[in-house]
Amino acid sequence: PLPRPFTVPLPVPEVARPVRPGRYEVTQRVAAAEIIPGTTTEVWGYGGTFPGPTFELRRGERATIAVRNELPVPTSTHLHGGVNPQDSDGYPTDLVVPANYAADHHGHGEARPGGHAAGRQHAETRHQTVKDYHYPLDQRAATLWYHDHRMDHTAPQVWRGLAGMVLVRDDEEDALPLPRGERELPLMICDRAFDTDGSFRYPDPHSAGSFGGDYMEGVEGDVILVNGAPWPVAEVTATRHRLRLLNASNARRYRLQLAPGGRFVQIGSDAGLLAVPIAHDTIPIAPGERYDVVVDFSAYPVGSTVTLVNTLATGSAGNVMRFRVTRRAADDSAVPRRLSHPEARPAAVATRTFDFRRTGNAWTINGHSYRPGVPLARPRLGTAEVWRLTSDFHHPVHVHLAHFQVLARNGRPPAATDGGWKDTVDVRPYEVVDVLARFHGYRGRYMLHCHNLEHEDMAMMADFEVI
Ligand code: C2O
Ligand code: CU
Repeated sequence: PLPRPFTVPLPVPEVARPVRPGRYEVTQRVAAAEIIPGTTTEVWGYGGTFPGPTFELRRGERATIAVRNELPVPTSTHLHGGVNPQDSDGYPTDLVVPANYAADHHGHGEARPGGHAAGRQHAETRHQTVKDYHYPLDQRAATLWYHDHRMDHTAPQVWRGLAGMVLVRDDEEDALPLPRGERELPLMICDRAFDTDGSFRYPDPHSAGSFGGDYMEGVEGDVILVNGAPWPVAEVTATRHRLRLLNASNARRYRLQLAPGGRFVQIGSDAGLLAVPIAHDTIPIAPGERYDVVVDFSAYPVGSTVTLVNTLATGSAGNVMRFRVTRRAADDSAVPRRLSHPEARPAAVATRTFDFRRTGNAWTINGHSYRPGVPLARPRLGTAEVWRLTSDFHHPVHVHLAHFQVLARNGRPPAATDGGWKDTVDVRPYEVVDVLARFHGYRGRYMLHCHNLEHEDMAMMADFEVI
């Protein structure tokens, strides 16, 4: 039986420790977790945990994360929001393959949800069982995350637990009096469904019929997890807290709100701090997006509760988690009026359109299902371009490597929640979203795709090449 909401304490993932300065080692493995109290869930986790450990890394300090795969399936790890060199970007066919995995093997979780892949085959070439991912982290402090990105299998493999958070820190941010220590909480929000024995329930792709069948819009669960716990509760002092919100769901979007009321003061977006804070009553968050917010719990009576709700759902998915305000405490934190120095918006040297839509029985970008190695665009390193994202449906569009600013939605100014440098933007049905993307860091092969993970697995991806 599912727990009553707000009875399970909020877990905070362990912070990974380097084996020596700059080098981390993590093993992906099968493990048992108690997610629903009294039952056992098999998870596939980085370090055997779900979420995986949090990596706290510093801007400009090159980090290597060696990922060893002891799962029954190949994986590819993408640091989402990272300005990563091509070889460490988690390209979907750049696989880390478990030692005794046979190339023709089709085991646990091997089939794809779409079932439409006829004619689109790709050999999974044999790769190493451990891969060193190199992250130079020449980028601003930000809330990033990492997750599996294996071709055709990302959705079920992330659902089983292959995701965790990365906090990039830097001197600019350290100099700010933001809440820290126990008053800074990474909150990975995702939905899951469970069988009565406690195991994760992910639909059998063969039952889905052609082109996604019932799951054409992606897979949603009825249980909302925060840091891997169902509708948890956290005790907080009546002080400011920094909440690093991540929507790690496969397909569910949320509109977060505080009950009985209250405001989120947004200080950062996907790719780092805003120039100035912006207060919001509600935060819409699509798969892949992050919002870095401060909530001041001194606005609530001691002993009261503050519930984070999702106003896009009724029923079980309408609740996310709860805070219980335990006592007054000294608070020397503040949200300064100026958070960071706005980088001048570069001029665009080109405009391109990427059209995300259904074409026949496929989710496509500019009319094509994913073609690995065939870039749809060749932006130049060091330049910026306007990318016009259009869609027939709801698609959270993610661009690797390049951070962007939202310029317009349907020709109108973007929403207050669209501010800052981002790497994922929710493109709503029949919307035209213009973003200014900056290509910096590295040349090479990168990708853009829908971050509805079922759409991603149904090949709604494209390569671009920075030249
Ligand atoms: Cu978070 Cu290409 O993915
Ligand atoms: Cu999509």
